[in-house]
Amino acid sequence: MNINPIRIRSIIGWFVTSLILTNCNLSNEEKENSMSTPDPHSFSQPQQSVITHLDWKANIDFDKKTINGEAKYRIKSSKSASYIILDTKNLSIESVTNGNNESLEFQIGEKVESLGSPLKIAITPQTRELNIKYQTSPNAEALQWLKPSQTAGKENPFLFTQSQAILARSWIPVQDSPGIRFTYGADVKVPSHLLALMSADNPTKLRSDGNYHFEMKQPIPAYLMALAVGDIKFQSLGKRSGVYAEPSMLQKSANEFEDLENMISAAENLYGPYQWDRYDLIVLPPSFPFGGMENPRLTFATPTILAGDKSLTSLVAHELAHSWSGNLVTNATWDDFWLNEGFTVYFEYRIMEAMYGRPYSEMLSLLSYQDLNDEVKEMIDNGEAEDTKLKLNLIRRNPDDGMTAIAYEKGYFFLRLLDEKVGRQKFDDFLKTYFSQNAFKVMTTEEFVIALKRDLFDAYKIDWDQSIIDNWVYGVGLPQNCPLPVSDKFTIVDEAREQWMIDEDPESLDEKYLTYQWSTHEWLHFLRTLPDSLNQEQMSALDNGFGFTQSNNSEITAAWLMHVVKNEYTPGYNKLETFLVNTGRRKFLTPLYKALILTANGKQMATDIYKKARPNYHFVSYSTMDELLKN
Ligand code: BES
Ligand code: ZN
Repeated sequence: MNINPIRIRSIIGWFVTSLILTNCNLSNEEKENSMSTPDPHSFSQPQQSVITHLDWKANIDFDKKTINGEAKYRIKSSKSASYIILDTKNLSIESVTNGNNESLEFQIGEKVESLGSPLKIAITPQTRELNIKYQTSPNAEALQWLKPSQTAGKENPFLFTQSQAILARSWIPVQDSPGIRFTYGADVKVPSHLLALMSADNPTKLRSDGNYHFEMKQPIPAYLMALAVGDIKFQSLGKRSGVYAEPSMLQKSANEFEDLENMISAAENLYGPYQWDRYDLIVLPPSFPFGGMENPRLTFATPTILAGDKSLTSLVAHELAHSWSGNLVTNATWDDFWLNEGFTVYFEYRIMEAMYGRPYSEMLSLLSYQDLNDEVKEMIDNGEAEDTKLKLNLIRRNPDDGMTAIAYEKGYFFLRLLDEKVGRQKFDDFLKTYFSQNAFKVMTTEEFVIALKRDLFDAYKIDWDQSIIDNWVYGVGLPQNCPLPVSDKFTIVDEAREQWMIDEDPESLDEKYLTYQWSTHEWLHFLRTLPDSLNQEQMSALDNGFGFTQSNNSEITAAWLMHVVKNEYTPGYNKLETFLVNTGRRKFLTPLYKALILTANGKQMATDIYKKARPNYHFVSYSTMDELLKN
């Protein structure tokens, strides 16, 4: 029998820990400290002791689906510090020592739903360094270990992380709060035929020994820690940008992102220099649960944006924009999430406008407006009106609950309103200063409102009613004065749809409305504004006329499949199943499964498909679908 010494030691560690824990009641002083913790989603108490730098050593074990890690921290403590608290989730802590290699007493507190467990380590004010040896669990929530069959190449396994919002703690013991920044270095060992990449400076070539070294010199919060390992190749796109992907996806990816270098320049022209040196993208396997993730220096992206015609690259503009809004100026807690996402959507559309013109960005904006209206209505109907405020209150909840159209779209429209009220020039000057003055800092909603008043309205002597701001930021629903995007392109689509509703002849639309020239966004508008209920003849006419079931564009497919599901259009069922089984992007999955379980035979179908699909999904997606499809 093979006895793994690390396991035994960690089992003993757990045993000792639980012994300590039974005697571990927080003193009153400690309780007070923890209550004044500004971030309700982290156990850390930075006012006691805070991490400033991480040196991470890790061995990536694809067979066991574990990471054996050593996290060495530099810390800064208050004069009376007697402990430091890190966040952990399902980690086996093997040992904790200080810089002199002396053991430090530690205890792992009770596990709290979605937060994990605090790791409390005894220190003195003189302790400068911590060294934690640990192992991740095979079910670590940030990590997705893909079998070769789940990759494009089918021959090698793949690993990627998704740390936002609070999953970094499932692969590194860390103070996992957006308000705590640290620099890092890493030494990562992977199987020698695989490449490792992080949110740091990255290799472009395989190293024969499988040892990779990384440095992230700018301080970042834990949610931006990222790692990807696989059969990955690199292609340069310009002097400071490039794309990584599995070999068979590389050329397609490089073509899609051809304009990346221009996009970076467009962003810099708006809000000042790009501060992270390089900007690369990695196209991940299709199970990646998001469209994109703004990991610094290396955006993680879903392959579902490879439409072949660059029509879905606003997502890249979005992740790039986070290099300012989010990565440079960071939401203090997840209650301030709109400061990350609303600013980023605003910035994204400004980049798209600069590159492809106002009529293009107005299509994106109008699609957002419709999403926002639908979601606000749905949230209010569901008794979730409180969550329609920009400033959220997610205490004792999963920060994931804040990932709605409110942070993104309501946030965007608030900034657009300000832009329209004060004028572009002034608003842009204000934002540029805001990003440079707050670079590498955190921002709360309250501080932003103060800055807005001081640096925009007062500075330019512009009258503005405070109650309008308060209503947007702290009020529910969508205020009456929400700007309305204008799109002539969509007006034509509206006419075409009306026409089609009368004669149901796709050919006549082609001639009159030049549908063969429509972009993805026009098709999305067309599909989203069709009536919910269509008969089989209408569905066939649409499908035969426009080839929706055959579309290779993921956004068009997802919008079409909503009609397939709602109208039980059986010729679309194969595509539905293939799409749900092979795509892990939650934004597509949630509405489709939701619609499916509302139809007559849909519940059974959803269950059957989900059984096949679930092993392909990342934790982020399967936890949402588990909830949706339970019982
Ligand atoms: N940072 C987000 C993704 C995220 C948010 C992950 C919260 C976990 C918790 C990313 O920048 C994002 O917003 N992605 C969007 C794309 C975008 C174009 C709206 C997505 O994945 O759909
Ligand atoms: Zn974002």
